[in-house]
Amino acid sequence: MAQVSSADPHDSAEQAARIEKRWAIVIVGIMALLVAVTIFTGLHWAMMPPSRVETIDPSTLHVSGEFVESNLGSAVEANGSVTVRIIGQQYSFTPQCIVVPAKTPIVFRVTSADVVHGMLITGTNINSMVEPGYIATFKTEFDQPGNHLMPCHEFCGVGHEAMWANVKVVDKDVFAKMAANTRRLSCDL
Ligand code: CUA
Repeated sequence: MAQVSSADPHDSAEQAARIEKRWAIVIVGIMALLVAVTIFTGLHWAMMPPSRVETIDPSTLHVSGEFVESNLGSAVEANGSVTVRIIGQQYSFTPQCIVVPAKTPIVFRVTSADVVHGMLITGTNINSMVEPGYIATFKTEFDQPGNHLMPCHEFCGVGHEAMWANVKVVDKDVFAKMAANTRRLSCDL
């Protein structure tokens, strides 16, 4: 009894070929899926940029429109949220100290009057380029009162390292009292 095995060598070769073919189909399927995902995301992002693009003329910021000096700082909106408008310029932010309430939806709107700056608020995930001609917008909410530094993190000239502002997060009630008799707030109001 030399040949105990009942399997015909021809059969097992066929079986192996079948399994290989099945795996080949799976692999081709995975590759097709990856290509489809690449094409979809490419087209999707081309049609829908990551954030909406708002432009503004940097040369007339101080003269008229949203970013005139009297409109900078924190403003309470009708729905209770707070909008903060900030200008970055060589080498400071205006306002220099920003005050916002805790546990309140905040919208930051920031633009540059001259060159590309950066802003980030330490201890948060807020981090953005501030480019002349564009308005950077982001929404956030601070969980608790505290002080954060807001340095410029994009090299913008010889005074870059001295360019930073403070963000003061105060209790919601404290902010409401501050906001009661003024339209735009910053720390010194
Ligand atoms: Cu502004 Cu660096």
